Amino acid sequence: MPSTLELNDGSAIPALGFGLYKVSLEETERVVTAGLDAGYRLIDGAEFYGNEREVGAAIAQAADRGIARDELTLTSKFWGDPEQSPAAARTAFEATERNLCTNVDVYMIHWPRPARGQFVDVWRELIALQREGRVRSIGVSNFTQAHIQRLIDETGVVPAINQVESHPWLPQHELRAFHSVNGIVTQAWSPLGRARILDDPTIKKIAEAHKISPAQAIIRWHLQLGGALIPKSTHPHRLAQNLDIDGFALSDDDMARIAALETGERTGTHPDDRQ
Ligand SMILES: NC(=O)c1ccc[n+]([C@@H]2O[C@H](COP(=O)([O-])OP(=O)(O)OC[C@H]3O[C@@H](n4cnc5c(N)ncnc54)[C@H](OP(=O)(O)O)[C@@H]3O)[C@@H](O)[C@H]2O)c1
Repeated sequence: MPSTLELNDGSAIPALGFGLYKVSLEETERVVTAGLDAGYRLIDGAEFYGNEREVGAAIAQAADRGIARDELTLTSKFWGDPEQSPAAARTAFEATERNLCTNVDVYMIHWPRPARGQFVDVWRELIALQREGRVRSIGVSNFTQAHIQRLIDETGVVPAINQVESHPWLPQHELRAFHSVNGIVTQAWSPLGRARILDDPTIKKIAEAHKISPAQAIIRWHLQLGGALIPKSTHPHRLAQNLDIDGFALSDDDMARIAALETGERTGTHPDDRQ
C-alpha cells in the first residue's frame, strides 16, 4: 500500500497515484480497473482528459469487487478554456461530478492562465465549493510561487496541493521549498519525464545496482524528496511495477547523482505561457 501525505486541511492522500492524461476512452475503464486492482487508491483525472465517464464506470465496478469508494481519492481539475471564470469553474465541477457519478475528493485549477487575470476569483469559487461541503480538498496545478503567494495574500486560503511538472531534469527544488514552508503538497506530473528520462545512463546504472527498473528508481527518488506523484501507464504490469517501490531505498550518493541531472528541461508548457 502506498504511504500517505497529510494535507493542510486535515485530510490525507496517497503519495503515489496514477494519472490518466492521454488514456483513450476505449482504454480508460480497463486501465483504472488495473490500477485499482494493483493497489492504487489515488486517481488523477481532469475535465480536459475527456475520460471521466469511463473513470466513473470503473469506480462503480470496483465497488462490486469490494473496493469501497471511501478508500479512494479522486482528483479532477478545472480546465478554464474557453472561459476561466468562477461560474465556469462551478459548472465544470458539477459536470465532473455528473460524469464520475460520484463526488470529487480533490479539485484543482488546472492552469493559472495569468494573462486572463481570473485565477484569484476562480480560487474563491473553489473555496466556496469546499465551504459548502462539496469537495474535501482544493488545490492548484501549474502555479508558480508568485501565483500561489497572490492566492494566499488575497484570500488567506493556502492550496492543499500544487500539481506541477517535476522529474530529475526539473526537480523544482525552490518551489518545493516554498511549498514546504507553506504546508502545500508537491504532486509531480510527468514524474517519469513522459518516459524520456528512462534511458538516461545515470538512472539506468542506479536501477541496475538496485535490481529495479529505471521507472522504479525515479519513483523512489520522488518519494524520498517527500513529494507525491502520479505516473501514467496503460500497461497493467507497469502499473504494478511502479507501485512496487518498498523493498529498497536510494542512498545519499544515488540522490546526489540524480540531483546532478537537473537541466531545467520541461516536457510541457511553462505556467506563465499558457493563455
Ligand atoms: N496538471 C497538468 O497540467 C498535467 C500535465 C500532464 C500530466 N498530468 C498528469 O500526470 C500524469 C502523468 O504524466 P504523463 O502521463 O505526462 O507522464 P509520465 O507519467 O512521466 O510518463 C508516462 C510514460 O511513461 C511510460 N511508463 C510508465 N511506467 C513505465 C514503466 N514502468 N516502464 C516503462 N515505461 C513506463 C508510459 O508508457 P505506457 O503508458 O505505454 O506504459 C508513458 O509513455 C498524467 O497522466 C496526468 O494525470 C498533469
